[in-house]
Amino acid sequence: AAIHLADYQAPAWQVLETRLTFELEPSATRVTTVLTLECNPDAAIGSDATPPLVLNGEHLTLERVSVDGRVLASDEFTISETHLTLDGLPARCELETVVVIDPAANTALEGLYVSSGMFCTQCEAEGFRRITYYPDRPDVMSVFTTTVIGDKAHYPILLSNGNPVERGELEGGRHFVTWQDPHLKPCYLFALVAGDLVKHADSFTTMSGRDVALEIWVEPENLDKTQHAMTSLKASMKWDEEVYGREYDLDIFMIVAVNDFNMGAMENKGLNIFNSSCVLANHDTATDAAFQRVEGVVAHEYFHNWSGNRVTCRDWFQLSLKEGFTVYRDQSFSADMNSAPVKRIEDVAMLRTAQFAEDAGPTAHPVRPASYIEISNFYTLTIYEKGSEVVRMVANLLGKEAFRRGSDLYFAQNDGRAATIEDFISAMSEASGRDFTQFMRWYAQAGTPEVAASGVFDATAKTYTLTLRQTTAPTPGQNEKLPLVIPVRMGLVSADGHDLPLVLEGASLGSESVLELTEAEQSFVFTGIEHAPVPSLLRGFSAPVKLGFDYSREQLAFLMQHDSDGFNRWECGQRLALAALEDLMAAFQRGDKQAHLDERLLAAYRFLLTGEPTDRAVLAEMLTLPSEAYIAEQQAVVDVDAIHWARKTAKAQLATVLREEFVALYHANEQQGEYAPTFEQMARRSLKNAALSYLMGIEDKEGMRLAQAQLAAAHNMTDVRAALTLLVHSSRTELGNPALKAFAERWSHDPLVMDQWFAIQVTRPQADVLDRVRFLMEHPAFSLTNPNKVRALIGTFAGQNRVNFHRIDGEGYRLLADVVIELNRLNPDIAARIITPLTRFKRFDAARQALMKTELERIRNEKLSRNVYEVVEKALA
Ligand code: ARG
Ligand code: ZN
Repeated sequence: AAIHLADYQAPAWQVLETRLTFELEPSATRVTTVLTLECNPDAAIGSDATPPLVLNGEHLTLERVSVDGRVLASDEFTISETHLTLDGLPARCELETVVVIDPAANTALEGLYVSSGMFCTQCEAEGFRRITYYPDRPDVMSVFTTTVIGDKAHYPILLSNGNPVERGELEGGRHFVTWQDPHLKPCYLFALVAGDLVKHADSFTTMSGRDVALEIWVEPENLDKTQHAMTSLKASMKWDEEVYGREYDLDIFMIVAVNDFNMGAMENKGLNIFNSSCVLANHDTATDAAFQRVEGVVAHEYFHNWSGNRVTCRDWFQLSLKEGFTVYRDQSFSADMNSAPVKRIEDVAMLRTAQFAEDAGPTAHPVRPASYIEISNFYTLTIYEKGSEVVRMVANLLGKEAFRRGSDLYFAQNDGRAATIEDFISAMSEASGRDFTQFMRWYAQAGTPEVAASGVFDATAKTYTLTLRQTTAPTPGQNEKLPLVIPVRMGLVSADGHDLPLVLEGASLGSESVLELTEAEQSFVFTGIEHAPVPSLLRGFSAPVKLGFDYSREQLAFLMQHDSDGFNRWECGQRLALAALEDLMAAFQRGDKQAHLDERLLAAYRFLLTGEPTDRAVLAEMLTLPSEAYIAEQQAVVDVDAIHWARKTAKAQLATVLREEFVALYHANEQQGEYAPTFEQMARRSLKNAALSYLMGIEDKEGMRLAQAQLAAAHNMTDVRAALTLLVHSSRTELGNPALKAFAERWSHDPLVMDQWFAIQVTRPQADVLDRVRFLMEHPAFSLTNPNKVRALIGTFAGQNRVNFHRIDGEGYRLLADVVIELNRLNPDIAARIITPLTRFKRFDAARQALMKTELERIRNEKLSRNVYEVVEKALA
């Protein structure tokens, strides 16, 4: 049964205070809950009758219920699989429930569960109902006092939200700690951790001079992997003060690393719980990309303290209120910490491959969905990444100062409240005077808008007329699409590579302007243009749309060199590369394997490799061909084999022609001096490894020699992984490669490194990989109950090894379906995510479509969780 935004009703009861006591036992934890309840005056029925109190609760064994100290008889309440209902309560009362739960058997990883011998929680979105009976909805906010009781030897550390106020010893070797969180919060922000953990402690002085204790709690063997997260946390706290005026509000801020975790991390008040993959990093075990992910996720969760916790969401339809805004905040932070253009390039590349694909698939939904069956399925790229793009457009339309005034106003008006997207936009509107009525369609309309641009130069009138036309294709359940407000940042580039002064309707706009496309079609007439310019459109990717303009390849090569916008220089290089790749794909489809790469792309690469050494990190991005997934997104019918062959062939031809340049680039960027996780060194490593990847593309002796030498000599995971990956993916090596074996022996004790070991193997392009996947599923380091393992092995294979997942014998599909069926029982959230590649069958040829549908139907025949049911039904609809 679907839940609809239109049906929202304010809660009938509020919880004034929540007092919890946990007596921890892995298989039988007793939870005693005391709620001070008050009937909402508007909800009272008649003068003294109150509406029923309906509490959520699942997988709970109820021992006792009492109201105001009196134990209720079993006919005084109603209990079902999902609810506890009480009638005729006094308008204000105290309710006590006692339940027993089984954390050790909880493989869904929602609620309270056991991971590597420690207790931990994940309550967002609806996990708290697996802990106790409660109104499990974000608009019920309360203060919490939590007493955690556990065996002192097994669980010396007992943590919850807020500040510790009391601790002591109990009989039977047990002890307790009581935590008090003074801030109002909904139960999805509740957290508890108990285990044998050690901490990395530090402190931060806030802008008003308060000292905050910072603690990162980990298993003892991981203590040497916490420095980067701590550095990132302190930088985040400072940045949020400086950029948003947001100060931390408790005396203590804790992060805990957990091995079994469905998502990246969780912003529980004062006690963030992290997937170990998003917090642990040192240079031996983590790549530069992992370091950047840690920095971004630590910031993301910290920023939620304001955008999410102090101001939370009224209901789950508003999820992007906190997620879209917080992603925008963490992206801005990472841009400030590293290279802003590279951060933008990475984020846009991800949005355009994964989010655009979601928008074009069967589960397409607006940034604010109108309905859902299972909310866990809506923690999506659309809610997060597209949601961030929408906030970015607001920020850019308003400009820095007005946007800051708007965010200050939003936090001031909604502090301590459960807010809606309208509350956010109305603060922005109030602070700027701008009308957002039409803009709100970005929240309601699913699908990726396409903007077709065309330009006409009139030499006599000295005008350049730019015409923009927008359309959005229908998405499931939404056929009619209205025009959106699309900000198109642009310039007109002269033949000598400079931005021309823009004059529009007599107004001088400077060298760059933001055109606001609000109608289905609009023309903009620029005057005083002497010679035909080349338009540079959608600079910085100013709106999440697909832009079409009929550029010649010469124009793309020209803009790649001369556009004043760094993002568009990259973008034009990618467009040029895509065009050249499409030539090769067409050749492959004709059976012509001798085809040559477009000279213009070779020339562009030569320019990049021999030109002025500019920003190394940007250069590494510019030397990377569009990914197979991105190329696939551009095709009407995806031909995985043609894409793979074209990309491989292009790389080999580039490497053959520019071999000397790549060798020189490699050596010019070898590490000098000590390793450091600095942005400068990361840029050098990515450039060096890009060069190595080209040289390995021709598999000549020098490439092999360099890769082997790098693998032997490197003392950081970035270089080790890059070299090992290239060797393992080479057609010249077997999967029994001794280097792989040595790596596994060295790292068998470290689950995060073994995840990389899995990922390296299952991305091997050769056809023997599928047997390897099945073999690795039996490996002792693999486990279906650990989401990181499932993602590393199965998710990476299905998502990144496109030629082998889409094998025409259907074996890849069968393998994924087998896993989904198992996971549907163990962990429905992960099952419903890992299935994604199968749901995109409409993008492929008839034979593959049929094979994929067969597997989806096989899954549909199972007794399905709500999560998998919703996805499969939408896919097959
Ligand atoms: N709020 C968390 C974050 O974005 C993610 C929570 C995920 N929960 C879930 N049920 N999938 O930081
Ligand atoms: Zn978040």
